[in-house]
Amino acid sequence: MKLLEAITKGANILKKNKIPSFFLDSEILIGKILDKKREFIILNQNLEIKKNDYLKYISLIQKRSTHTPLAYLIKSKDFWKSEFYVDNRVLIPRPDTEIIIEEVLSIVRAKKIYNFLEIGVGSGCIVLSILNEIKHLKAVGIDISQKALEVCKINSKRLCLNSRLKLYKSDIDKFDIGKYDLIVSNPPYICRSDLNNLMKDVVDYEPKYALNGGNDGAIEIRKVVKKSSKLLKKGGKLVLEIGHNQKTKVCEILKNNEFYIQKVIKDLRKQNRCIVSIKI
Ligand SMILES: C[S@@+](CC[C@H](N)C(=O)[O-])C[C@H]1O[C@@H](n2cnc3c(N)ncnc32)[C@H](O)[C@@H]1O
Repeated sequence: MKLLEAITKGANILKKNKIPSFFLDSEILIGKILDKKREFIILNQNLEIKKNDYLKYISLIQKRSTHTPLAYLIKSKDFWKSEFYVDNRVLIPRPDTEIIIEEVLSIVRAKKIYNFLEIGVGSGCIVLSILNEIKHLKAVGIDISQKALEVCKINSKRLCLNSRLKLYKSDIDKFDIGKYDLIVSNPPYICRSDLNNLMKDVVDYEPKYALNGGNDGAIEIRKVVKKSSKLLKKGGKLVLEIGHNQKTKVCEILKNNEFYIQKVIKDLRKQNRCIVSIKI
């Protein structure tokens, strides 16, 4: 069978199953099986593919039809300037989270900061992207999930950053190691009652411990703020990702824990997404 015919067949199956990006996804999935980049796939649509490869590809198409996220099928997600290994142990890095990277880079470049803490590393997309940019920096990362830490370790080794990142398995409530000039966190912040309204790709496949922010969506945020207030040095900064409707609530939590709100940053859709605050 020719490549184009296989892609079209796969795309039709995905379309029937209401996958919005059906054609792109089938090109990416055949690329995964043939171990070729998308450019190659686009330029070689008359290529004959082996029956065995076709069967492996159709098996991926069937998984994608049930809304298994593409990133979990190809075990990869681009974020900032790197490619990260991902599977169902971690949240798939989101483009909106890149505003945290921009913000942290400007803080680190303006101030003399030598190490920082990330609370809830997941795949490691935040902490590793920052370490990759600023060569003198070291970091500590924690996560409540051992499985997430295993994925973060895979990525830190792949990016040759493992010597500059120390990881701990810990609930933020129980973490007491070190004092920091900078803490970064993208904690789970979805209200428990809203979890089932998320896209099927998210609610059925991504880990609940990375999404569930409890009854009001702010349970983990409260923990992060409270503990950061202890772990940050005076004048240190907390860069926090929040849900688009959480600005007022989180600003109040921060003020109650001796933080001064420096700025609120909007994401690509112009929604409030990140709060930068300073420990008074
Ligand atoms: C929204 S995900 C963010 C992952 C990654 N930093 C990113 O931006 O893609 C939140 C992460 O926090 C971790 N987490 C949840 N509750 C935690 C807690 N109480 N203490 C430490 N980590 C926690 C989860 O396991 C998950 O990996």
